[in-house]
Amino acid sequence: MRWIIILLSSFIAFAATGKHFNGNGPFRKPHRIDDHPEDACRHPPHVSSSISETVATLNVSTTIYSTNEQITITWTSVSTVCHDDFIAIYFAEIPLTAACDYYDYEVVNKTQGSMSWQMINLRRPLEFRYYSRDHTCLGNYTFLAKSPVIQPRNYNEPTHIHLAYSDRIDQMFVSYLTNSSQYIPQCQYGLNPSSLNFRQNGTTTTYTASDMCEGKANTWGSRAFIDPGYMHTILLENLHPSTTYYYRVGTDEHGWSPINSFTNRPADKNEAVYMIAYGDMSLAPLAPGSQSTTDRVIARVQSTNVTCVLHLGDLSYAMGIAVQWDGFMNQIQPIAAHVPYMAAIGNHEYDHVLGGEKDPSGASGPGGFRPAWGDYLYDSRGECAIPMVHRFHSPSNGNSLFWYSFDVGPIHIIHFSTEHDFRRSSIQYAWLEQDLRSVNRSRTPWLIVGSHRPMYASIRDDSKDFDFIALMLQFHLEPLFYRYHVDVNLFAHRHSYDRTCPMYQRKCVSDGVTHVLIGMAGQDIDTGEYTGAEWSMYHDEVYGYCQLWANQTYLHFTYRHNIDDNIADQFVLQK
Ligand SMILES: [Fe+2]
Repeated sequence: MRWIIILLSSFIAFAATGKHFNGNGPFRKPHRIDDHPEDACRHPPHVSSSISETVATLNVSTTIYSTNEQITITWTSVSTVCHDDFIAIYFAEIPLTAACDYYDYEVVNKTQGSMSWQMINLRRPLEFRYYSRDHTCLGNYTFLAKSPVIQPRNYNEPTHIHLAYSDRIDQMFVSYLTNSSQYIPQCQYGLNPSSLNFRQNGTTTTYTASDMCEGKANTWGSRAFIDPGYMHTILLENLHPSTTYYYRVGTDEHGWSPINSFTNRPADKNEAVYMIAYGDMSLAPLAPGSQSTTDRVIARVQSTNVTCVLHLGDLSYAMGIAVQWDGFMNQIQPIAAHVPYMAAIGNHEYDHVLGGEKDPSGASGPGGFRPAWGDYLYDSRGECAIPMVHRFHSPSNGNSLFWYSFDVGPIHIIHFSTEHDFRRSSIQYAWLEQDLRSVNRSRTPWLIVGSHRPMYASIRDDSKDFDFIALMLQFHLEPLFYRYHVDVNLFAHRHSYDRTCPMYQRKCVSDGVTHVLIGMAGQDIDTGEYTGAEWSMYHDEVYGYCQLWANQTYLHFTYRHNIDDNIADQFVLQK
């Protein structure tokens, strides 16, 4: 009976949240709920046995591309264009009858004669296809034409380049992805872009569908699992603090990335640091605010000496659709190849019901932490963090990406998991307490904790009477955070911004913790009513991102709206 309830609740959750995800857009095609060629999915299209009956031609501006290159498609001789004709991109080996096994698609407008596609490297030969309704525009689809096969210029192009902090201040993880594990991955780096004198080798990993816990993640298919390529990671060591390094990744055999640069974090507590923080960004253009956040953050990291980025869970929202990870990693590369991208775990990376023996966090039980009072459902669609832990990295002082801590100048930062047991009896709680206890506040006067689900939010959630997870976070962790004088508690999950006074147990107090909900980075925006809680100092429902500047005396937090990059809210804490 219990399993029936769990599975039923999982289905309800899928139905409730699935409305945003009925398409995929790793090639940056926006999909609306009502413009999907669902009939092409339900009924295999007619495919003529004779090529002479192909009624259109489909041309591409190039058959060889690099990542982010635009390909222009043109077509001719389509006698009747129906409102739901579409051009889509496929692996070349996919049968012509499998019209819905696309990676992305665009509906053809009647007056349209060309369209542009921004390419990502999926490490396989691809082709575009044109499918049209029959002459009445009501019947089944017919395959009209396909383009020449298009291929990446380099199947082993280093892509998805990103950085992360490791255990020591002189270390930096540099990660990238190719189509091969044949050669040892390498990072060449140095203090000058014209002399990358240092070399460091790395390691390679990958995963397959059966490595993940359940469901869609276990299933091969264009809108489920595809071969994700090989993830390479190099740990640079003996780096100097506050020093800019130039680097490239790759191999002589398979080619090299362009040269990127990063500035290592300071070792001196007297140096100021500058971080960017957000949660729930997701993949553009499916997620309406994701591109504007990405564009604003790229501008910040290019114009300002940003020390690192904190992404507090719900990254790609791939949820078993593997190419969404390709799209997301490509989207954040201009940020993450330049500043360390420190990710925390969210429900859309981790939450699962079955397959617990494959759960990389080591949580017990088939679905990990699933107390009766929590709405922990099926939100990773079975990924159970496998794609996340293969891509992202962190210090090893806790439990992989699930909980860890690190220092950035005068700040000690703890990322923990609201998707795992955080109660006083839990392993995670014990780790949190020992980490909080061990912080040297004369070395790092500022203490920030970050996780995914809110401890406090003044926006109403119409889907439930009480947010029991928030109440449990208040019961189990708020006293701990207050006792150890945490300055700022950051979280996301709700898609809006909400900042409290320094508070404890629902009262503003001078020595309390300031809680900030920063889940407004892109996926969508909540539109709930506010409770009017006296502890909520500012809240709104607008896409944006946060910046956090600190030296050993002042912490200045700002929240900016994407639309104009103006400051919507800010506060200053002083030691
Ligand atoms: Fe979430």
